[in-house]
Amino acid sequence: MAPRVVVLISGTGSNLQALIDAIAAGSLKAEIPLVISNRSKVFGLERAEKAGIPTKVLALKPYTIAGKSRIQYDADLAQLIVAAKPDLVVLAGFMHILSPTFLEQFPTTPLINLHPALPGQFDGARAIERAFEAYQNGEIKHTGIMVHRVIQEVDGGEPLLVEQVEIKPEDDLVALQERIHSVEHVLLVRGAALVLEQEAAKKCNSTSA
Ligand code: GRF
Repeated sequence: MAPRVVVLISGTGSNLQALIDAIAAGSLKAEIPLVISNRSKVFGLERAEKAGIPTKVLALKPYTIAGKSRIQYDADLAQLIVAAKPDLVVLAGFMHILSPTFLEQFPTTPLINLHPALPGQFDGARAIERAFEAYQNGEIKHTGIMVHRVIQEVDGGEPLLVEQVEIKPEDDLVALQERIHSVEHVLLVRGAALVLEQEAAKKCNSTSA
């Protein structure tokens, strides 16, 4: 049985598409049983539906309006994911910071995140814009991307894969964003494959021990 990868998105879902395409091409041995978005009407949901993948939307706003806590939201989100029995959870452009309440629900399931910056640089939102500004101010010569394990600290988990991305003098922000996205699509698939290999090796070792 192929390992199950639950993917969380918030937007366009081009990285979700990279995972879908890699699975279809046989280069990523996995299946995606569920895509969850915290926003309705995003293109990523259409991509999932087109690929025949079940989707769920869990938005924070109805919780806020109903006076429910963020902790309740995170607990419900975790429950949705756990019910899909994932071997790996991938945050592919998921724009919520996850609390300890959420992370505690995954003591053994790995979670990975894609972040469009090098480790320790431009953690949090608007990373590409901030890197571009820093380049224009002469503060950096290049930027990068990382796939890292998810911990409580935003974009602070152990990097699994890191790739440097060039910034060219003639770049505008759109050109840099496009270059970063095209590298992300490769790195995220590699990151997912790497973690699934590590998990398979762990299972193999524990059964042979
Ligand atoms: C990516 O740049 C990712 O690194 C960032 O959000 C973006 C998501 O893009 N965290 P998409 O929705 O996968 O197209």
